[in-house]
Amino acid sequence: MSNQGAGPLRRAGGGDEQKPGHDSQAGNLAVVIMAAGKGTRFKSQRPKVLHEIGGRPLLAHVIAAACQVVAPSDIYVVVGHQAERVRAAVAETGVRFVEQAEQRGTGHAIQCARQAVAGYENILVLSGDAPLIRSETIARLWRFHRDQQAAMTLTTAEPSDPHGYGRVLRRAPQAPEVVAIVEQKMLAPEQLGLREVNMGLYALRTAPLFAHLGQLTADNPHGELYLTDMAAVLNDAGERVVAFKTEDAAELLGANTIAELVALDAFLRAAAADRLMAAGVTIYRPETSVIDAGVEVAADTVIEPFVQLRGRTRIGANCLIRSYTVIEDCTLGDGVLVRQGCVLAASTVAGGARIGPFAHLRPGSEIGEDAHVGNFVETKKARLGKGVKANHLTYLGDAEVGEGTNIGAGTITCNYDGVDKHTTRIGKGVFVGSDSTLVAPVTVEDGAYIGAGSCITKTVPAGALAVARGRQVTKEGWVAARRARRESKP
Ligand code: UD1
Ligand code: MG
Repeated sequence: MSNQGAGPLRRAGGGDEQKPGHDSQAGNLAVVIMAAGKGTRFKSQRPKVLHEIGGRPLLAHVIAAACQVVAPSDIYVVVGHQAERVRAAVAETGVRFVEQAEQRGTGHAIQCARQAVAGYENILVLSGDAPLIRSETIARLWRFHRDQQAAMTLTTAEPSDPHGYGRVLRRAPQAPEVVAIVEQKMLAPEQLGLREVNMGLYALRTAPLFAHLGQLTADNPHGELYLTDMAAVLNDAGERVVAFKTEDAAELLGANTIAELVALDAFLRAAAADRLMAAGVTIYRPETSVIDAGVEVAADTVIEPFVQLRGRTRIGANCLIRSYTVIEDCTLGDGVLVRQGCVLAASTVAGGARIGPFAHLRPGSEIGEDAHVGNFVETKKARLGKGVKANHLTYLGDAEVGEGTNIGAGTITCNYDGVDKHTTRIGKGVFVGSDSTLVAPVTVEDGAYIGAGSCITKTVPAGALAVARGRQVTKEGWVAARRARRESKP
């Protein structure tokens, strides 16, 4: 069906393809995301839309889906409760904001956005608290709305339990036309059996919307202006209101309580684990893993129970990630072993390296090929070359360690003088004896040896041995002599 040419519903390029894509007719379509509500049922100080699932705020999920359909500058987020905090959390996406100082309902939220979006021919309205919405569904709604030449199109589904949602009253069971949306608390006894619910995702033509938006009344149990009432208002005004039914009721899941939020999080985590397993990754007890949507893992890597892979983590093939490890924003090469209980953040680990157990790679660590970072070793902004071994009880901060160097147990780089941070440079093939401290800035050149227990404050030249510790004093027979002295006292 085509409706090109004159008329209010110019088709925005692209034909009938199912993929979402930015609308080519600039100025034609805006997205309004309602995110001003307090989320009273959350009983939380944090605005509801900033609660996180899958590692990012609810609102960020909705914005990401909307960005697949229109440019960020055509997305208007309605903020109200703790507006500044909400703005700051998603400002980097480039969306625009509309203020709803007092939250008087979803209809009032759209009234507040009126000025900002009046220049667009159509708007899509999304809820900031329904994060599972897919861009494909938004794009399909948009196409349906145009094909139907409707003033208002609402997205509907039939979840197994419709309780709590607004129900959809169609003109006739199979007809696309909608007469009204009835909120749960307003349902008449004979309407309780209605199974089709309003997902809270709408397409609206702005001309009829704004011509009639003032007719909303707060004549309901909450005393709010309901956007859902626009279905009846527009229908009564002779405008076309239709329903676009989706098969995937899971997508409509909103988070109205913390328990629902956690259920959505579990849903996303399960989806992320399923995606990786389908790509050849073995995840034992996937229900215990926490994997963010953006994480990538190559085939034949094995992930043990209770592992968290967060942010933009990338893991190569044939790795083994053992239990109780948390990896965030890291890149691991192929064949890396991360033993139990490690914490890795914003670092890179090259192929064949072994980490842990109980190692802590802090941001800026670069662990070379086949290097070993063992028990209770902490690194920060430390570059370890190929084959470096730091196996026990060590701190390497602001350090460079050359290929093949061995760092003895208990070695510490003293990188902080109380004011500034300084670098420790350790060359290739160096042997640092156990329990040494390296007071930065300091350099240990290639092939040098450092005696155990040394406190190194000056450059150690290549191939030299440095011993910097008190000399041992041995007094033969001292213990017996002391005992004799004590016993002779009266
Ligand atoms: C809404 C619909 C309901 C639908 C359900 C789907 C109404 C009246 N009801 O109910 O038919 O089945 O979504 O999830 O719309 N918001 C504002 N300003 C306000 C009030 C709300 O921006 O003044 C925002 C909220 O932050 C939220 C969204 O609008 O992101 C939806 O509001 P909410 O109170 O959650 O509506 P529901 O009760 O879920
Ligand atoms: Mg809701």
